[in-house]
Amino acid sequence: MSAPSQVTASLRGVVKRYGRGHTAFTALRGIDLDVRAGELTLLMGPSGSGKTTLISILGCLLEPTEGSVEIRGQRVDSLGERRLPAVRLRNIGFVFQGFNLLRSLTAIENVEVPLFLCGVHGRRARARALELLESLGLEGKERQLTEDLSGGEKQRVAIARALAADPPLVLADEPTAALDTRTGWQMMEALRDRAHGGVAVMVVTHDVRLEALADRIVRIEDGRLVA
Ligand SMILES: Nc1ncnc2c1ncn2[C@@H]1O[C@H](COP(=O)(O)OP(=O)(O)O)[C@@H](O)[C@H]1O
Ligand SMILES: [Mg+2]
Repeated sequence: MSAPSQVTASLRGVVKRYGRGHTAFTALRGIDLDVRAGELTLLMGPSGSGKTTLISILGCLLEPTEGSVEIRGQRVDSLGERRLPAVRLRNIGFVFQGFNLLRSLTAIENVEVPLFLCGVHGRRARARALELLESLGLEGKERQLTEDLSGGEKQRVAIARALAADPPLVLADEPTAALDTRTGWQMMEALRDRAHGGVAVMVVTHDVRLEALADRIVRIEDGRLVA
């Protein structure tokens, strides 16, 4: 048996309510979850079940209404907007559902942004960004503005950017939605390889075919995890 892997991120008793008073809506109703290094975890559930809310809280992009969030043993749920960016930068690579690329920058420049923020500049940053883009099948597209790329290409640039600074936690919200089946599978393999290299990876997906690649599957319905 292999040694128990390390918990990279955990949620305890996490509740998320949107809005107040009679318009309040409870999107998460008490979530306990550990995301472990060395594992590709899939988060699956119907539309509106709370997947984006959950992964955004894990990614420190959204504060829980109740409960605690720990990233590598550090409580982060009440750090506030001044201290959170540093936590995110050091620990988290996030692939957004809508990519959130910088449209007027090239593919390579988008991937370099997190490297610059982490103090990697010049040739080292360029080489690292090129290597990642090529490993994700984007050779020849490195110098195109991302606004001129197809949806699937943008999605792969977003994955490259999330991996660039080698974060210990990689989170992706439906990263294969704009990809054809084969490319989607390849991207998921790239994320699994990253997980098996020691990173904690959690991916939101609807695609049951990708279950075959997962080390662990977590299901959510109406804001609660189900067995
Ligand atoms: N900013 C918001 N304000 C109010 N309700 C929201 C907001 N974001 C999400 N919701 C609601 O919370 C529920 C869960 O949303 P979400 O986490 O995006 O689900 P999923 O990603 O599984 O489709 C949905 O009913 C959604 O309408
Ligand atoms: Mg969603």
